[in-house]
Amino acid sequence: MNIIEVRNVTKVYNKKNPFVALKNVSLNVKKGEFLTIVGPSGSGKTTLLNIIGGIDADYDGMNKIKGINYHELSDKELASKRREDVSFIFQSFHLMPSLTVEENICLSAKIKKYKVNRFELNDVLSQFGLMEKRKSFIDELSRGQQQRVAIARSLLSRTDIILADEPTGNLDSKNAQLVFDILKSLTREKQKTVIFITHNMELAKQSDRIVQIRDGVLYET
Ligand SMILES: Nc1ncnc2c1ncn2[C@@H]1O[C@H](COP(=O)(O)OP(=O)(O)OP(=O)(O)O)[C@@H](O)[C@H]1O
Ligand SMILES: [Mg+2]
Repeated sequence: MNIIEVRNVTKVYNKKNPFVALKNVSLNVKKGEFLTIVGPSGSGKTTLLNIIGGIDADYDGMNKIKGINYHELSDKELASKRREDVSFIFQSFHLMPSLTVEENICLSAKIKKYKVNRFELNDVLSQFGLMEKRKSFIDELSRGQQQRVAIARSLLSRTDIILADEPTGNLDSKNAQLVFDILKSLTREKQKTVIFITHNMELAKQSDRIVQIRDGVLYET
C-alpha cells in the first residue's frame, strides 16, 4: 500500500522572479518503508518534504497522504490532517528550551490532547537512553541527546509518517548512526514510514530505497 503518492508536483518560488524548485516530481512511498532522499544543496529536498508534510500548500500537482489529496483540502482541513498524519524532525530540532526533556517529548501529545501514560513515556525514555536526563533542560544535553529527544517526541505524536530533514547533519558519525538506527527500527517494529534527507551516503545505503534530486528533478536510483 502506498501511504504517500506524489504525482507531477511542480513548485515555483517567487512568482515575480520565478524559480522552479521542483519539476514534475512523482514519488510513491509504501507503508513501513524507509526512504532516503539525497541530492546537492539547493536541489529541492526540503521543498519536497515541506509539500509532502503539508507545510507548503502552494504548488501544482497531487500529494496524496493515506489516500487523501492534501492539495484539495482547505487550510483548516490541511492543518488538522497534517497533525494527524505527519511529524517532522528538523536538523535544528525545534525543541523548547524552557521545557525539560520529558515535557518536550510529551509536547505534541499535549497539543493533540491525548495522554501519554507513564509506562509509554518510560519505555521511550529508556529506549532512547534519556532516562537519566528526563528532568534536564534542552541546553544541558549534547547534540545527539537533543536529536533523540526530537525523535522521541515525533514517536509519541503517534503519526504514521515521520519526515526527517537532515536530522543527523550536526552529529558525529556514532550519534548519526544511532539516530538512523532508531528511525530504521521504527519502520520495522512499528510500521512507521520514514523519509530521511541526508548528505551521508554511508547512512543512505542502509535504507530501503534511495532517490536523488538534482535541480528539482527526482531520479529513482
Ligand atoms: N522561500 C524561497 N524563496 C525562493 N527560493 C527558495 C525559497 N526556499 C528555497 N528556495 C530555493 O529553492 C531551491 C531548493 O531549496 P531547498 O531548500 O529545497 O534545497 P535543499 O535540497 O533542501 O538544500 P539543502 O541541502 O541546502 O538543505 C534552492 O535553490 C533555494 O534557493
Ligand atoms: Mg534542505
